Amino acid sequence: MSIGNSRKISTKKLDEILESYEYKKSNLIAILQKVQEEYRYLPEDAIIYIGTKIEGLSPATVFGVATFYAQFSLEPKGKFEIKVCDGTACHVRGSMPVLNAIRNKLDLKEGQLTSDNGLFSLETVSCLGACGLAPVVVINGKVYPQMTSDAISIVLDTLLKEEEE
Ligand code: FES
Repeated sequence: MSIGNSRKISTKKLDEILESYEYKKSNLIAILQKVQEEYRYLPEDAIIYIGTKIEGLSPATVFGVATFYAQFSLEPKGKFEIKVCDGTACHVRGSMPVLNAIRNKLDLKEGQLTSDNGLFSLETVSCLGACGLAPVVVINGKVYPQMTSDAISIVLDTLLKEEEE
């Protein structure tokens, strides 16, 4: 059975997750982390479902928690999560041209965070603690140091090619 409008979610899967955390309010963060792992974001219908299933919670409360923590995303994420560091060192060494090159390459419109094909999502983050390698881009946890517009374009082409194979 599934409910929802934006993205089909499996209530069976959600119940499995809730069950493994004993439907406990105190486990809410861990539950949301698991759900995000499953869908790569927190679908609205999953938030509502969790809010009605855990005693002492409401969908509004779960929504509040999900929006409070930066680790949670209410937007669908791409298969490849691109993080462009825009801390001071990276900014000074050209993170903005790199960011613009990514936006152009993925054809992301103003305010659009995920590419139309659902493969890539893009965000800027503050200092990643690797300032010596600035400007830094991280894709699915892998660090790409000293990026330039040309270099990131090659990286994205390579990922796209791998996807097509
Ligand atoms: S400013 Fe980018 S890693 Fe520190």
